[in-house]
Amino acid sequence: MTEAAIPVLTIDGPSGSGKGTISRVVAGRLGWHYLDSGALYRAVGVAAGWADLDLDDAGALVRCAFDTGIGFRDDAAGELRVLVNGHDATDELRTETAGAAASAIAAIPEVRSALKERQRAFRKAPGLVADGRDMGTVIFPDAAFKVFLTASAEERAERRYKQLKDKGVSVTLDGLLREILARDARDASRAVAPLRPAEDAVRIDTTGQGIDSVVERVLALVPGRTA
Ligand code: DC
Repeated sequence: MTEAAIPVLTIDGPSGSGKGTISRVVAGRLGWHYLDSGALYRAVGVAAGWADLDLDDAGALVRCAFDTGIGFRDDAAGELRVLVNGHDATDELRTETAGAAASAIAAIPEVRSALKERQRAFRKAPGLVADGRDMGTVIFPDAAFKVFLTASAEERAERRYKQLKDKGVSVTLDGLLREILARDARDASRAVAPLRPAEDAVRIDTTGQGIDSVVERVLALVPGRTA
């Protein structure tokens, strides 16, 4: 199968829109590979933190984006683990600090270019579900299937709040809402690859919707899908 013939389903949207969960379930149902592109940005952010890099030093961050070893593997429970320079950094990657660092470095055009080919390398037969912000617009503009997920900021903050509380992390709903709004504004207003739906993306609002119904709506876009 030539690379262009390998089908790609892009699922873009803001944090808390349900992208991660929906993408993983959909990839599993289709038997396709899965790219969590946010994890790449988070990994570079975490590696930059380990190396004590200044988040204003674009040159150092670009080198870090090229040099950081990033690997994915499933653990015994089928959970996706992320290795950064050989260390399992999955839990650290999920923190709000890592998310904020990722959002800051993701605004640097050369960092985005440095990660472009790494993301495209995930396109392997029989297909790829790619989750992120610019999957349908920049990384896989030729994708056959494109989805843009949204949800109200309040609902996204509440989902995050529940996730973090379940993990025993102490946060406030107000604080999370403020962080989500600030991150949305930064991701949508940056000059390079701002968060916006591809023109040919199907928009799905997940506010008040369960995972199953969103998964079914996404799967309905892919002909010949596994039931
Ligand atoms: O999806 P996430 O929360 O793991 O992403 C973390 C940050 O990385 C997010 O604030 C924006 C950035 N990002 C990006 O700019 N482009 C992507 N394709 C994925 C993530």
